[in-house]
Amino acid sequence: MPVAGQSQIWFNGRLVPAAEAVVPVTSHALHYGSSVFEGIRAYATEQGPAVFCLPEHVRRLLDSCRMMRIELPYSPVGIADAIAETVRANGHDSCYIRPVVFRGPGTFSLDPRKAAVEVAIITFPWGRYLGQDAIEQGVDVMVSSWRRAAPGTALPMGKIGGQYVTSQFIAMEAADHGFVEGIALDAQGFISEGSGENVFVVRNGVVHTPPLSGAILPGVTRGVVLTLLGDLGVPVREEQMLRDFLYVADEVFLTGTAAEVTPVRSVDRVQVGAGRRGPVTAQVQEQFFGITAGRLPDRHGWLSHIRTGAAAPVRGGAHAKGERSG
Ligand SMILES: Cc1ncc(COP(=O)(O)O)c(C=O)c1O
Repeated sequence: MPVAGQSQIWFNGRLVPAAEAVVPVTSHALHYGSSVFEGIRAYATEQGPAVFCLPEHVRRLLDSCRMMRIELPYSPVGIADAIAETVRANGHDSCYIRPVVFRGPGTFSLDPRKAAVEVAIITFPWGRYLGQDAIEQGVDVMVSSWRRAAPGTALPMGKIGGQYVTSQFIAMEAADHGFVEGIALDAQGFISEGSGENVFVVRNGVVHTPPLSGAILPGVTRGVVLTLLGDLGVPVREEQMLRDFLYVADEVFLTGTAAEVTPVRSVDRVQVGAGRRGPVTAQVQEQFFGITAGRLPDRHGWLSHIRTGAAAPVRGGAHAKGERSG
């Protein structure tokens, strides 16, 4: 477990030693997956750690709560401040940040709403999710035998704990077959996403990525990469793709907070393009890693520097408690 016992976890409003941030085995989320969570990174910059896309992640956490009918007892600004406080308290230069909102004890009923709402923020150092060489050399992936949820069977826009059993099946199957990751198709057979990453395919200078209707999580990194591609003047199409596309692509890359921007060098043992990172992927990586390291100007305001005081203001505040319009 990467969380050291002496590190601090923000738990229901205050920082406590990790060893004390424990939950009863009667917690509803443990049985039924009634939790929502986020995965966020803070990057080391010359001005200290900077949280990447903090408002976007807080917004998605609130969206997930709304889907799960969870009344979050903190405002978006309160959550953003608590994240900054936890990173500061643990003295990280860079880290992974895991906010989780879950149903605690209170009921064993499948209607979870009598169970208490609990909130924790966990931080820990984390390197390259898909391996040290992955960013340069690329990874070998398979098309998973598992499908993403059919329309009307889940809420892919939400980062909801229980929905991640599918991702676990995808990840275990890929590992068992000697692949780094699996790419799942949606219920109709179109390319959807990895167990924890969005997928981009480059062919003839055009970048293609599945639309939100393809049962994908609206990845924050996906949004960042779409913006960067726009800046670079690379044409992008959000459209459904058959799996054939993966075999005839010039480049394929995965995006996610954990995976960052990772090239794919083969799919189902079929080499992608030249079998190494392609030029579009390299350009996107240069921008992404340049901005997150503070080497390139943060022209879109994606970094919240946390040593200098409060976290960046949270956009999308209409979702704050008591501010809902309808
Ligand atoms: C299923 C799934 N898809 C895509 C992503 C990428 O999303 P993001 O870029 O917000 O980390 C993640 C990771 O959070 C994920 O779990």
